[in-house]
Amino acid sequence: MKALVIGGGGREHAIAWKLSQSSAVSQVLASPGNPGIASLATCFAQIPPADLVVVGPEAPLVSGVVDDCRAQGIPVVGPTREQARLEGSKIHAKEFMNQLGIPTARYQIAETIEEAHRALARFDMPVVLKADGLAAGKGVIIARTREEAREACTNLLSGLFVGSAGARIVIEDCLPGEEVSFIALSDGKTILPLEPTQDHKAIFDGDQGPNTGGMGAYCDSRILTASQRQFVLDRVIQPVVESTGFTGFLYAGLMMTSDGPKVLEFNVRLGDPETQALMYRIDSDFGALMHAAALGELHRASLEWKRDPSVCIVLAAHNYPGDPRKGDPITGIEAATQAGAMVFHAGTALRDGVLQTAGGRVLGVTASGPTLAEAIATAYAATSNIHFPGMQYRRDIGAKGLARWQ
Ligand code: AMP
Ligand code: GLY
Repeated sequence: MKALVIGGGGREHAIAWKLSQSSAVSQVLASPGNPGIASLATCFAQIPPADLVVVGPEAPLVSGVVDDCRAQGIPVVGPTREQARLEGSKIHAKEFMNQLGIPTARYQIAETIEEAHRALARFDMPVVLKADGLAAGKGVIIARTREEAREACTNLLSGLFVGSAGARIVIEDCLPGEEVSFIALSDGKTILPLEPTQDHKAIFDGDQGPNTGGMGAYCDSRILTASQRQFVLDRVIQPVVESTGFTGFLYAGLMMTSDGPKVLEFNVRLGDPETQALMYRIDSDFGALMHAAALGELHRASLEWKRDPSVCIVLAAHNYPGDPRKGDPITGIEAATQAGAMVFHAGTALRDGVLQTAGGRVLGVTASGPTLAEAIATAYAATSNIHFPGMQYRRDIGAKGLARWQ
């Protein structure tokens, strides 16, 4: 079977890597792929013919790539355009959660600056303001003061911050607690939960500085208790699958509040960098699993996990999460691999035989170990081999887990 991965980031490198180990997969294809993916797959600028398609990013899902594949009779893993609205419109997601009784923050919608400023009176500070549409992680603002909140509403609704994605906004209560990423695979009927992961959104250690797409993640079974997992399955994942027939990976971004888990957002795909840590722990044939998901046969599939926790450290480019500098030469990947890590490429390019930075998040250094502490130590030891001018990474990936379980 020829398996095609759509996308070209760290998540897609991890998916392609896992597919390349599958006995059900004879060849891995990628579109567009990246230099790391090219070491184990054939990369294409356009979408080539394939026997199975796995879609990584949200943009092609929101524009209906799954509907297109199905119309051509190609088995595909991902949600339909209609199902993808859960990520494509935050207003749709909030209304949907309210209808189904899925626990989430109290909110209000605003379409004009006046309406937003009036609505703010009903919220305590800090307050969260979210652009309705896709904004590549830049559409959410946590305002600490009323002045900041008013300004953010104005900037979102005037189009200054994220253009037309901010034509309507959600204003919601800011929930205190720790975030957890809970992802489940569904074929529309059967649900297979993945192991829980924790992302690190802020650019600097101690969750300081602006939000990014994710600076690192770890995957450890203890992140959620059995009863917390059951609660999320029963109250969050199952209602979505039952009411929409959701197919693909459903990602609930959760805040673990003193009042129980609440959904901050839905994504209709695997998370990045979470996927890099997740793929490292999967102990089943991933090609067979994806094929079963695409054919609606997940009830026959199994999903086993390696016991050892895994950790992914993201190495980001100079100036990220602002406009990242491109073209910095990268060295040391080979040495990092020999030190026991898998180095997934996210934003890299090969120019005249030299590997260079080509995006905000450049590499994901992923490793596992018998304990979380050992997984973290191996990942950082491997990272110390890699160099490029302006390289930024957090030194505290997994630290919350260590503190929780010491
Ligand atoms: P979203 O894209 O909706 O997940 O928001 C991006 C990030 O903003 C989340 O990962 C959280 O760190 C933060 N966030 C979003 N909504 C809330 C909320 N209601 N309370 C606290 N933090 C939030
Ligand atoms: N790491 C968060 C995301 O993929 O949306």
